[in-house]
Amino acid sequence: MATLSLYSHSFFLLLILLPVIFNLQHHLTVAGGCQYPPVIFNFGDSNSDTGGLVAGLGYTIGLPNGRSFFRRSTGRLSDGRLVIDFLCQSLNTSLLNPYLDSLVGSKFQNGANFAIVGSSTLPRYVPFVLNVQLMQFLHFKARAIELASTSDPLKGMMVSESGFRNALYMIDIGQNDIADSFSKGLSYSGVVKLIPNVISEIKSAVKTLYDEGGRKFWVHNTGPLGCLPQKLSMVKSKDFDKHGCLARYNSAAKLFNEGLEHMCRELRIELREANIVYVDIYAIKYDLIANSTNYGFEKPLMACCGYGGPPYNYNVNITCGHGGSNSCEERSRFISWDGIHYTETANTIVAMKVLSMQYSTPPTPFHFFCGG
Ligand SMILES: *[C@@H]1O[C@H](CO)[C@@H](O)[C@H](O)[C@H]1NC(C)=O
Ligand SMILES: *[C@@H]1O[C@H](CO)[C@@H](O)[C@H](O)[C@H]1NC(C)=O
Ligand SMILES: *[C@@H]1O[C@H](CO)[C@@H](O)[C@H](O)[C@H]1NC(C)=O
Repeated sequence: MATLSLYSHSFFLLLILLPVIFNLQHHLTVAGGCQYPPVIFNFGDSNSDTGGLVAGLGYTIGLPNGRSFFRRSTGRLSDGRLVIDFLCQSLNTSLLNPYLDSLVGSKFQNGANFAIVGSSTLPRYVPFVLNVQLMQFLHFKARAIELASTSDPLKGMMVSESGFRNALYMIDIGQNDIADSFSKGLSYSGVVKLIPNVISEIKSAVKTLYDEGGRKFWVHNTGPLGCLPQKLSMVKSKDFDKHGCLARYNSAAKLFNEGLEHMCRELRIELREANIVYVDIYAIKYDLIANSTNYGFEKPLMACCGYGGPPYNYNVNITCGHGGSNSCEERSRFISWDGIHYTETANTIVAMKVLSMQYSTPPTPFHFFCGG
């Protein structure tokens, strides 16, 4: 009986997923038409870190992270691919290598990923805040162009000057600025007061990249922080919204997003030649949680991998991958992987929606950013 119900359950899930898979394939095929090899530079936090923390600090991120796609831990905080991986795949380009990974040789032809787990925008000059990631990029660019002008064997295997000009610059940061301010005990109004400083850091990053010749920008806003099992399990005074998320955390995230969207509008006027796309990740993720059953998810606020069981399966002392933690069955459907980051299944849906243009301002197909 148990087997039977497992199979019918999987069948049901497959039915739900088919349109999603079909749609993703469609987007992947459309994107096959890149005229020039795409080049992408990404800045951010764990939402888009493809192994930077592990490469940079030697910190270990073990299985079950990576169990469902890579079949090994790659330094990503998820069981599989992240949204940025799906975006790369939609352009038929290889997954981005972390800038700090010294063992990838010269495999930076399609760009580099500067995102690092835990990064925020402030305080400045602390590894690996946005400003530091930007300085790393400037160093990378200078070296690549220097190599291109010599007879170094690496010449031609790096990004060229026109590669930098035509590259897509992606930014996905801010979540940790808000989260850290709350966890340091700041009041809601205290957190809100910090938001303009965070936005101004992001703005100055975009301007620097523009001054360097970058013209194409893709900015992700921040997700519903108050729906993360980690926050839900650690916060004492609960002020739930109608989907069981922390209202204050989500309001702060929304205020940040309003500021970010406004910043994009200002920059489109100020930086005449820039294409700046703002993507509403918040709306995508909140819909996933609010309408979780429609997407085949049962416990949208519970981590697959963690400790403690329902309702959140999160314990700060026994986190995913560390001794004593447990994880859900590989085929089960959870939105949250480890209490903070999403599962590959959830990331698939988020990526498909990002590629749909429905959440982008202005509506722009991702393959618009193919090189050239
Ligand atoms: C993707 O790239 C591979 C090799 O890099 C190539 O063989 C394949 O035809 C490409 N697919 C599309 C859809 O462009
Ligand atoms: C849930 O789905 C309904 C129907 O598609 C939609 O109208 C609603 O906005 C969704 N909820 C959220 C929070 O996105
Ligand atoms: C985590 O460990 C600390 C220190 O040992 C303890 O005070 C705290 O209660 C633990 N938290 C949980 C959720 O078990």
